[in-house]
Amino acid sequence: MIRKYIFGEPIDTEAVTAKIPAERWETSGKYLKETAAEEGHAFTCELGEDDRLYGLGENVRGINKRGWIYESNCIDDPGHTESKRGLYGAHNFLIVDGKQRFGIFADAAQKVTFDCGYTKRNQLTVTVTEGGFVLYLLENESLRGLVKEFRAMIGRSYIPPKWAFGYGQSRWGYKCADDIRYVVKQHRENQIPLDSVYMDIDYMERFKDFTVNEERYPDFPSFVEEMKEEHIHLVPIIDAGVKVEEGYPVYEEGVRNGYFCQNADGTNFVGGVWPGRVHFPDVLNPAAREWFGGWYRVLLDAGIEGFWNDMNEPSIFYSEEYVKKILEKHMPFRTDNADTQMRKFFELKDLALGLSNRQADYRLFYHQCHGQRVRHDKVHNLYGCNMTRAAGEAFERFSPEKRILLFSRSSYIGMHRYGGIWMGDNSSWWSHILLNLQMLPSLNMCGFLYTGADLGGFGADTTEDLMLRWLELGIFTPLMRNHSAVGTREQEFYRFGDTDSFRRIIGLRYALLPYLYSEFMKAVLEDDMMFLPLAFVYPEDTFASQVEDQLMVGSGLMIAPVYQQNAGGRYVYLPEDMKLYRMRGKDSFETESLPAGHHYVKAALDEVLIFLRPDHLVPLSEGGNFTEEVTTSHLRLLHYVKTAALYELYDDDGFSRDVTLAGHLTRITVDADGSICTAGASEPECELI
Ligand code: GLC
Repeated sequence: MIRKYIFGEPIDTEAVTAKIPAERWETSGKYLKETAAEEGHAFTCELGEDDRLYGLGENVRGINKRGWIYESNCIDDPGHTESKRGLYGAHNFLIVDGKQRFGIFADAAQKVTFDCGYTKRNQLTVTVTEGGFVLYLLENESLRGLVKEFRAMIGRSYIPPKWAFGYGQSRWGYKCADDIRYVVKQHRENQIPLDSVYMDIDYMERFKDFTVNEERYPDFPSFVEEMKEEHIHLVPIIDAGVKVEEGYPVYEEGVRNGYFCQNADGTNFVGGVWPGRVHFPDVLNPAAREWFGGWYRVLLDAGIEGFWNDMNEPSIFYSEEYVKKILEKHMPFRTDNADTQMRKFFELKDLALGLSNRQADYRLFYHQCHGQRVRHDKVHNLYGCNMTRAAGEAFERFSPEKRILLFSRSSYIGMHRYGGIWMGDNSSWWSHILLNLQMLPSLNMCGFLYTGADLGGFGADTTEDLMLRWLELGIFTPLMRNHSAVGTREQEFYRFGDTDSFRRIIGLRYALLPYLYSEFMKAVLEDDMMFLPLAFVYPEDTFASQVEDQLMVGSGLMIAPVYQQNAGGRYVYLPEDMKLYRMRGKDSFETESLPAGHHYVKAALDEVLIFLRPDHLVPLSEGGNFTEEVTTSHLRLLHYVKTAALYELYDDDGFSRDVTLAGHLTRITVDADGSICTAGASEPECELI
């Protein structure tokens, strides 16, 4: 059951695709009470002592969001610490589970705050700042049912090409074709599977979107072709800001057609980002969106089949107006004595530290949105979403048959139909392995299924053990990419001593591909989640509802990765009997049957723990050096059969856009006596292992 209430005159975010009639709001509804707010609208709900809160997509802190205050206000902030209130995305879907069970979606383009028992431990307060919005309340008997209902209302999630489930190597610092050739050669020589290499900003000419530096890539289309022969897909980055430069056609066309965001006086707004002075395409204006999307064609025509959209919160390193202000403030300070002018010193320091991504800068420029002129801060959370939509819609035009890989840094719910997201600029910290795990189910609830974190950490120096442990989680995530920042320790797997362990763990990912792809596709096509908190599968189990560091991955397996330095194992909670496969790659493993309850489980640095539920199967392929080599003709089954087990394997050609479950499922059954039967779309040869 979904109820919809309209407040004021909302800007249509286009997050919801279902047609739902609006009802009249009563100030004291069944679930939420409207209360006085300093600014905008506030709604509260009393929480029972043990109530749990789920959702809010990309965010800091745990799976259960209770006990902190979160803000949906997309921001480029690389410090993903517990003290923050939000990250790059605005995902305003929250579930209350306990005394009452219901879902809230605050569909608002502006800032929304979720006080999840922070100000008062037993109270949830959702505050939508000034401006219209739509509030949806959802009811369902189960947590998973609530998510399905929400997901059906916001439309089918994005499906990438199958190769995008392969391993991707990235680093901000690869400068030219030879750098990339070297990366590929090292992977192939060391037999570390690889499907893609990412091209960060240095491939462009002075960071200008849709250009390729000709000195570094003398014949780009033939380089793309050369890589394809190696079964490598190149994935270039596209930034939101367009460099201000005479003679640069993207800039000139944008200016000529009035397609950039404007200041109040009608001149084009200037921000500073990587290319220096930039204008921001007004992607909220459908004509400008179509125009900006059209430029991706330059790279598609060169053979590119995947993109990552960045800096689209939008990130503004500085605005000219504010820099001027700082410089003016700075003048008297040059002659004053810092010792006696402490107050002034801190004033100056705050000015300088507050230079980037200022809220005040977001009030300086305007969009043309649904025929109205709208100040940016009122639609701030829609910018990255619409930049990615620009690309997604363009791909539907230019590549109607074939899926194109697309993911973004900033997002709003609704963008999940056009692309995935990566989790932004994390750090090489042990705590960020856990954060990666905790974000996965929350993102799935909000429709983002194609996702993953920068494995090994983006900022700060990684270590070999951190890299291995992170990978032991990363091999389960749809987007599996190793990415790091310029200036940090190089973290390609061949840089470490123990290449063999990396090879085996990545090899296991490729063996798991049929299962992971199948679970991903079933989750997309059935509006379901691929990564589930234990509470969603074992709702009656009070221990399960408290587990914050284990996840169910699809129908059959549970993961419990080690995320602490120097730990040779960890505590695991099993809600039911499970069979543990302790895997050292795809060919070497030990098994152990464990009864329901709490266990300390050992896990050596190169071991991946896979826990299988009773009467479930997980098919393993023979693996491969790239996704095209992975087939489902021979499957080895991880199995835990008590009475009879069934697995429904989904598979397709990996590139067609128009897919359904029908015609793509193979049923694999195993009886208690070990006999195997297959029926359906394919006839794999199966064996139990
Ligand atoms: C941003 C991105 C990061 C990228 C860098 C340079 O920080 O989040 O992934 O490497 O910009 O383009």
